Amino acid sequence: MTIILIVRKYDVLFFGMKKSKYIWYNGKFVLWEKATAHVLSHGLHYGTGIFEGIRAYSNKKQSYIFRLKEHYDRFYNSAKVASFKLPFKQNELEKATIDLLKKNKLKYCYIRPLAFVGEGSMGINPKSNKINVIIAAFKWGTYLGDDGISKGIRAKISSFSRMSVNSFMTKSKISGNYINSVFAKQEAIRLGYDEALMLDDNGYVSEGTGENIYIVRNGEIKTTPTSTILEGITRDCVFNICKDRNISIKEQKFTRDELYISDEVFLSGTAAEITPVREVDHRIIGKGKPGKITKLIQKEYSDITKGINDKYQHWRTTVQIPR
Ligand SMILES: Cc1ncc(COP(=O)(O)O)c(C=O)c1O
Repeated sequence: MTIILIVRKYDVLFFGMKKSKYIWYNGKFVLWEKATAHVLSHGLHYGTGIFEGIRAYSNKKQSYIFRLKEHYDRFYNSAKVASFKLPFKQNELEKATIDLLKKNKLKYCYIRPLAFVGEGSMGINPKSNKINVIIAAFKWGTYLGDDGISKGIRAKISSFSRMSVNSFMTKSKISGNYINSVFAKQEAIRLGYDEALMLDDNGYVSEGTGENIYIVRNGEIKTTPTSTILEGITRDCVFNICKDRNISIKEQKFTRDELYISDEVFLSGTAAEITPVREVDHRIIGKGKPGKITKLIQKEYSDITKGINDKYQHWRTTVQIPR
């Protein structure tokens, strides 16, 4: 009983989000409590939505939205894959995001743009149902826990395969696709792990439920080719950091046993940032703590997001929030 209570307490601490005052909803700022949708919204019934996950960071002087343009590029690509005609232009949504942070006085936060098919036709075909667009921004701590970031997480190969690319399209963040991740994550948590790692249809390691995956062996990094995964924006940062630091990184399929015998394993994602993996299926990875290469990439990524490392200025959109 005590253990359950402790876990619940940590759930609140680690995964709790702090609501903010306003949500941008179809072009207007509305109060958080008033940002509601009709129960017959098509998206609610059939998963017809697309979304993004973006983070804003802050140093002592300045706040930045990290890779704003790339996230909205992917949002519009998701819309294309899902055959959504978005009722706003990309620059309008980018501006709305900046304005939302100012309006909510958020120096750092997680940002969730979502477009979903509204009520109207109840059949599978959404016909001409309205497409609604919202942008929410709120404080949200480390996705896999502060301990996860500093000490590494315990992961499990999921009994759920990563969705087949011919049934669900992995290049887009379509809401309905995420039931695959939800099932895998729930299973992992129920069994006492922090995260699930999914294999693709052919049994190769694909990715986490919301993160791309990397293994390090003999100083070289391997990561899954993009065919079965979401093309992570953090993944692109990892490639750039490796280039800067002369670390060899290649896209190559690998199996679960190669994962077990790796020197280091880590995950990347906007929510999870760079999270080390210290154990997979009860096999200790390397020395059971974050490895040298993982720590270097983690530090570099953190410095870039916060503007401590000046190099990637074009990845940061400055937002003027009164201090
Ligand atoms: C399935 C999946 N893979 C990987 C990622 C990492 O992508 P990014 O680094 O762009 O956040 C995400 C997060 O959006 C995801 O949902």
